[in-house]
Order: sequence, then C-alpha cells, then structure tokens
Amino acid sequence: MANLVITIDGPAASGKSTVARLLAERLGASFLDTGSMYRAVTLAAIEGGVDMSDEEKLLSVFDNRKFQFAVREGRMAVSIDGLDVTEQIRRQEVTANARYIASAVKVREKLVEMQRQFAAREKKIVTEGRDQGTVAFPNADVKFYLTADTGERAKRRQNELRTRGGLESLERIQDAIEERDKSDQDREVGPLRPAEDAIVVDTTDLGIEEVVEKLLRCVEEKCLKRDQK
Ligand code: C5P
Repeated sequence: MANLVITIDGPAASGKSTVARLLAERLGASFLDTGSMYRAVTLAAIEGGVDMSDEEKLLSVFDNRKFQFAVREGRMAVSIDGLDVTEQIRRQEVTANARYIASAVKVREKLVEMQRQFAAREKKIVTEGRDQGTVAFPNADVKFYLTADTGERAKRRQNELRTRGGLESLERIQDAIEERDKSDQDREVGPLRPAEDAIVVDTTDLGIEEVVEKLLRCVEEKCLKRDQK
C-alpha cells in the first residue's frame, strides 16, 4: 500500500479531477480518477448490449473485456481491450448510464478492489471519486470533500463541455447535475457523503489554484503532525 494516500470526494463538477491531478503533481504523487472506472464499465456494458438492471450480467463484463487505467501525460488514460477510450467515456450517453453501474453492489466491490490494487503499486497517491474516503480507503492519511453551489458547478461543466464543442444550455446541465447528485447520494452502496474525518472545502468562490494551495497546506499540516507522533 502507498505510504501516502489522499482522498478527494465530492459531487459532480466540484473540481475534484483537476484538483486531484494538480495536487498529485505538487506532491510528486500518482492520481486515480475513479469516475473513469465507472464510466469505462458503463461504456463496455452499452457496447455489449448488457441489461443494466442485471447485476450478474454487468459483472460478466469484467470477464469479457480487459480494462486498463494509467496516468499518461498527466491524464487518466483508459483503454478497453487495448483500445484507447479516454474520450469516449466522457460521452453524454455514458454519463447518463453510469448510475446503473454505480449502484450495482458487486460491480462496486470489484472496482474498489481494483482501486486498492492501483494504490498498492504507488508510493503516494491522490484518489478521487464519491466513496474514496468512506469505503475504498477508510485509513487514508488525509481526506477531503469538495463541494460547490449547483449553479457554479453547472457553469464549470458548461465551460468544460464547450471546449469539446458541447452546446447544452446551463439549465439542462444544472438539471442533469442535480439528478446525478440525487442518485449518488441516495444509493445504498458507497453513497456520496463526506467521511466523518474529511476536511470539507467549499470551492464556490475559489479558483482552482486557490483550492490546490489550500489542500496542500492541509496535507503538509496533517502529515507534519503525523510524522511528529
Ligand atoms: O466523477 P465522474 O463524474 O466521472 O463519475 C461518473 C459516475 O461514476 C458518477 O456519476 C458516479 O455515479 C459514479 N462514481 C461512483 N463512485 C466513484 C466515482 C464515480 O459511484 N468513486
């Protein structure tokens, strides 16, 4: 297991992925975008025409397809059977169907196991998602929970989509975010919520660099205290 594990959880478009990547860079750590794992399984299930409500069939996706997750040029690169699907997993259809994969108990167990294996190969890791501090890494060294107003998150998502040619209205994006929040918070397994010992950071009025600096200070402070014990 890595000797420094930092978890960042939070709702959709709260800035987790960018912050995790930049924080990892500053700490010389690896990072893991666990949402990309749920997205990759969703894409494979869509491609295989799998009934999303049948948990056993969803689980069989792991036997039939080979998933690979690696940090390449500072990004989480994802491939299925050797084919790069990093862009494809961001498709709207994948985002909308990820909730079926996210609420399938055995699929979650399998992905959490893969996340722990990924971390075990690294010396330091920043991992982000919904359940990283609560389920996957309950003994993490530092846990963060990032939040932001829904309106602000919708704006951020709209900007991100625009860079890829997306033209969706702010209203539609906000509705979709609220729907995803609800489904992430209400599921029985690995629901979205801050770990009891998580540091909650509201990023509504903060720029990315400010958030990274804030988190970095918390890590330094916590690790310093830990090392002095
Ligand atoms: O973070 P991202 O939006 O890429 O995640 C895609 C979906 O995967 C989320 O809507 C959520 O339902 C699911 N997810 C999860 N647990 C995680 C990471 C993502 O359930 N640790």
